[in-house]
Parts: sequence; C-alpha cells; structure tokens
Amino acid sequence: MVTLTRNTHAHSPQTQQHQHEATAHGAHSAHGDGTDTPVFDQAFWDDRYRSAHSVWSGRPNAHLISEVTGLTPGSALDIGCGEGADALWLAQQGWTVTAVDLSVVALERAAARAAEADPQAAARITWKHADITEWTPEAGAYDLVSSHYIHVVQERRGELHQRMATAAAPGGILLIVGHHPWDQDTTMPRPRAAGIFYTAEEVAAQLPAQEWTVLTEDARAQETVDHEGRPVTLHDAVLKARRSV
Ligand SMILES: C[S@@+](CC[C@H](N)C(=O)[O-])C[C@H]1O[C@@H](n2cnc3c(N)ncnc32)[C@H](O)[C@@H]1O
Repeated sequence: MVTLTRNTHAHSPQTQQHQHEATAHGAHSAHGDGTDTPVFDQAFWDDRYRSAHSVWSGRPNAHLISEVTGLTPGSALDIGCGEGADALWLAQQGWTVTAVDLSVVALERAAARAAEADPQAAARITWKHADITEWTPEAGAYDLVSSHYIHVVQERRGELHQRMATAAAPGGILLIVGHHPWDQDTTMPRPRAAGIFYTAEEVAAQLPAQEWTVLTEDARAQETVDHEGRPVTLHDAVLKARRSV
C-alpha cells in the first residue's frame, strides 16, 4: 500500500536543478534583508511541479544505477525523490523504499505514476512529505541513503549530509550526487547561488573517517546540449561511502 505521510515544517531555503531538466526556471529571492539568496522552499517546488506535466525525464539517474547495481537490496531512503523515478527503480530492484520530498505536488505525482507503472514495486515505496533540513530520519535504519541533486545552501549543507549519514545502518551505503562547481561556468542555466555546488571531496570530508570508507569520490563528466542546442560538458559530484560502524 502506498501511504503519503506529511510533515508541515517545510520552509527552509533550498535550491535546485537536475541533469534531466527540460526547461530553465528561477526562484523567488530576497529575505527582506536586501540579500539576493534564492529561496527554494516548498512553495517554489510545488509551483515548479505544477508548472509542467513532467519536470524530469521519468528515467532513474544514471549514477544511481551505476553505484547501486550489485548491492544486496534492503531498506533505502531516497531524499528529494521528486517525481519518483529513482524510488521506483530501487523498488523494482527489490529495495523497500522511503521516498522523501518537500513538495506535496511531486509526491502525489510520484505515487500515482509508480502505482500505474508497476503496482507491485510501488507497494514497496512509502512516500513521505518532509523537509530534510528539519526532519531527522531514524538513526541507523537504512541500508542505502541516496540523494540526487537536492541542493541546500552552503550554510546548511553539512547539517543535511550529517542527517543523511546518520540514517545509514552499519554496513550501509551513502550516495550523494550533486552539481560540481565546474558547472557554474557552463552555458547550462544554473541557479545563482554558488554555495549549492560542491565536490565529492567536500562531502567526504564531512564524514568521520573512523566510521566511513569512501568508495567513490568523483567529478563525473557527461556531454549534453544546453537549451540553445550548444554542446556542453557537465560534471556531477558523486560520493559513495560505506558505513563501518
Ligand atoms: C533537483 S530536484 C531532483 C529530484 C530527483 N532527485 C531527481 O533526481 O529527479 C530536487 C528535489 O528535492 C526536493 N527538495 C528540495 N529541498 C528539499 C528538502 N529540504 N527536503 C526534502 N526534499 C527537498 C525538491 O522538492 C525536488 O523534488
């Protein structure tokens, strides 16, 4: 059965984008203090999802497939699940998935699409409405904690990654994928918030070395085209680590 649990605390600054995105978009800005920090909160994400029938490609992320294939399925936590393609793929591989997102619109769409595409796999997914900067997942509960392109402003990123790491069980895998800082200088539209870009090395440095073994620490290149059809090379920060204790 698919359940959509809700958490009403969802107001933190967030930021966005994703390799499969079809259209550029902006966020409202300003905090009333004259700064121009984008605000990617629940209202932004709900509007973003309402603005298009599909925001993402509907395909699971390539790094998820490459990094998770071969692992023994268990319990997985997908943070910032969006329209649910990764959660569905994980469930189809035998994982029992908790898929979390800030956007109720995304979650309802994800649940409906997964149920239609593969009811058996969808029955292994629990869709949860929560802001990961405020909700703390159960400690040590997941064999895989995964997040793709959920960008949180720099000042909150360490805290977010710490929450994710704490949720991994001993022997569990942490997989964090984000946009590499090199992508700020490409012609692909990116939010004007330099702090949302990070390297895999920066994420790895936040993990206590005595608890974690880093398995993948990469700036993975992919060739694509920008919205004007010009070739562009993008880079994803890919961090995969195993918890030892
Ligand atoms: C760029 S999209 C990526 C979606 C999906 N992971 C994918 O790769 O297709 C980022 C997602 O993270 C969600 N998100 C942003 N901030 C969040 C937060 N603080 N807690 C939970 N989800 C969040 C957004 O609603 C959005 O669906």
